[in-house]
Amino acid sequence: MSVPYPRILLLATLGLALVGCGGPADPNSPEGKRQAAFKQFLSHSEPMNGMLNEQLPFDGETFAAHAEGLAELVEAPWEHFPEPGDSKQRNATLPEVWSQPEDWQQAIDRYRSAVTDLVAVTRQGVETPEQVADAMAAVRSSCRSCHEGYRR
Ligand code: HEC
Repeated sequence: MSVPYPRILLLATLGLALVGCGGPADPNSPEGKRQAAFKQFLSHSEPMNGMLNEQLPFDGETFAAHAEGLAELVEAPWEHFPEPGDSKQRNATLPEVWSQPEDWQQAIDRYRSAVTDLVAVTRQGVETPEQVADAMAAVRSSCRSCHEGYRR
């Protein structure tokens, strides 16, 4: 019995080639620009969530500064969602962004208003995690629900 090694190898190589051909998105492409914007979202939300999870020490001023960071970036990704056309850039956006544009806008609105509410709280001065927990939970849930509907 001959084990079809070459074929397995060929398939493995093909598989790698398929995965590899994505590579990181070109940073100048719309896909690359929106992914960079989302990474910046994360650079603020991650420490904020860490402070509320007790993974990081809670510091009200730092928390408030990250809330300002989220507010500054709140519009950053959305202009970088043109119809994909024949773009082959690696990306995780579902086609519903373009096929259900009104729902997509609602998901953006929900996020925008959650961030606005959060900043309204943090601008009053932050002393305790309890002051910001609900507002941050609303932000988190708006990130998550958009990902559930529009991200692979
Ligand atoms: C209105 C929808 C929406 C909201 C709100 C949203 N995201 Fe996303 N996010 C997406 C989509 C769509 C992608 C996939 C982008 C792509 O690869 O084309 C994505 C991708 C990402 C990525 C991966 C970026 C990469 O390097 O590929 C991260 C990280 C991320 N989002 C974090 C967040 C965080 C944190 C929040 C909230 C603070 C958030 N997102 C809010 C839609 C959203």
